[in-house]
Amino acid sequence: MRARTTEEDGRIALIQSDIWIGFPRAEQVLDRLQGMIEAPRQTRMPGLLVHGASGIGKTMIARNLSRKYAPEYDPASGITRTPLLLLQAPPAPDERRFYLHILAAVGAPATALSARAQNVASLEVRVIALLRDLGVRMIMIDEVHNLLAGTHREQRRF
Ligand SMILES: Nc1ncnc2c1ncn2[C@@H]1O[C@H](COP(=O)(O)OP(=O)(O)OP(=O)(O)O)[C@@H](O)[C@H]1O
Ligand SMILES: [Mg+2]
Repeated sequence: MRARTTEEDGRIALIQSDIWIGFPRAEQVLDRLQGMIEAPRQTRMPGLLVHGASGIGKTMIARNLSRKYAPEYDPASGITRTPLLLLQAPPAPDERRFYLHILAAVGAPATALSARAQNVASLEVRVIALLRDLGVRMIMIDEVHNLLAGTHREQRRF
């Protein structure tokens, strides 16, 4: 067998990579999400639950949007603006794990994460302050069915 040329390697890599196909339904969801992220601040911010069979492209939509709203460093203020935060729901509805997930996702210093003694209330206050500082406009939670792994009370609290 002859060795592959660089061009062929490039073509194979392209085929294997994730390429966005804008089928109508996916574009519709993207538009809706984009409308929500651009909407002005309201007393009661709307939420959206996207559901569909496995493999239908929910995670692809989430990733696509999070690429469009990637974090941007503002040298003037020294703050990294993060308009959109894409998270995976923890395997069970556990508030502490969820807050730690958020801290990890925004790149909070490791000391903040290892502080096991921190109670949920102080984690919550930290996370909310951090989200405000980063200018987060939307949180997207993938695999939200993980919620179902909890008890009724845990589900409601979450
Ligand atoms: N818009 C798209 N353009 C191109 N490929 C897509 C698109 N949507 C889905 N796919 C392909 O289908 C695969 C499965 O999609 P995805 O992981 O987004 O499904 P999902 O709805 O999140 O499934 P699950 O519920 O199991 O998490 C992707 O890895 C990708 O290869
Ligand atoms: Mg998925």
